[in-house]
Amino acid sequence: MIEEGAQNQKTPKPKRVVDPTIKDFSLRPQNFSDYIGQDEVKKNLSVAIQAAKIRKEPLDHILLHGPAGLGKTTLAHIIANEMGVSVKMTSGPALEKQGDLAAILTNLKENDILFIDEIHRLRPAIEEVLYSAMEDFGIDIIIGEGPSARNVRLNLPRFTLIGATTKVSMLSSPLRDRFGNIFKLAFYKNEDILKIIKRTAKLLKYNIEDKAAHEIARSSRQTPRIANRLLKRIRDFAEVKNLKQINNDITKNGLASLGIDQLGLDQADRDILELIISKFNGGPVGLSAIAAATSEEQNTIEEVYEPYLLKIGFLERTHRGRIATKSAHEHLGYEQRRA
Ligand code: ADE
Repeated sequence: MIEEGAQNQKTPKPKRVVDPTIKDFSLRPQNFSDYIGQDEVKKNLSVAIQAAKIRKEPLDHILLHGPAGLGKTTLAHIIANEMGVSVKMTSGPALEKQGDLAAILTNLKENDILFIDEIHRLRPAIEEVLYSAMEDFGIDIIIGEGPSARNVRLNLPRFTLIGATTKVSMLSSPLRDRFGNIFKLAFYKNEDILKIIKRTAKLLKYNIEDKAAHEIARSSRQTPRIANRLLKRIRDFAEVKNLKQINNDITKNGLASLGIDQLGLDQADRDILELIISKFNGGPVGLSAIAAATSEEQNTIEEVYEPYLLKIGFLERTHRGRIATKSAHEHLGYEQRRA
């Protein structure tokens, strides 16, 4: 319940609603036919969208989870486009007060989409407001204070919540249970990353040799956001050298200069592994010790670096801490000391 006296003294304005003209928006695919990969998710979402359109109803709430950079935000924009509705963007940490969420919800129109990124970081008091909003399209606010305070129910337009998270296990079950559609985004196949690189190069109006595209794909950690970022950085190298197209040489040199190896690991990844291997004898070592020694946030280590290191089998998580595997030792030129 929202206490107006405490939190709604002024009419709150919607906060941090992201402007859709953000920098590389034009690189983002706008519909399913341009969106490469995640075939199962696309197929099931298309059915849900078609059915909602036939029934002239909003989509059931959607939870998208999976590692960072795999296209959760892009999918939210595509879903809105395909439904022909507007999308308002916010994130768990940006919603500080119940009034922040109330302001956004009451400004939605029928069938609109509200996208909450990092939904696992919502404060409990805000999550509570979301429950009734999601289930009954209404929120309760308290008007006035003391004995004259009264409870007023605000009806909301029927909307769709799209929640995105890199840590689905941190969602409370009441919140998770209110999503009618739950989709997990997986790391991309190499061939899909290659297609994304070629598509982006075309949009950037820069030719890329096939070999160079393969080279970038190999270093992209099966993640479109990284593929596009590397492509743009290599284009910088090509541009400075006055090259008309991105060739294999400039790509290899550029990646080396950026400190990115053939598996796509950068200096920060290697620092984490080196630390576990050389300072902690290969592990197990707790996340907090890794964070302290590398001056990285625990969250960043868990959400940015670890998923791919786990995926390629360089890191293992045990109840006693993180362990650098035999492959990690080999990759960094160490002998594994433990059995
Ligand atoms: N750019 C980023 N992700 C993409 C995807 N899945 N398909 C096409 N272009 C992309």
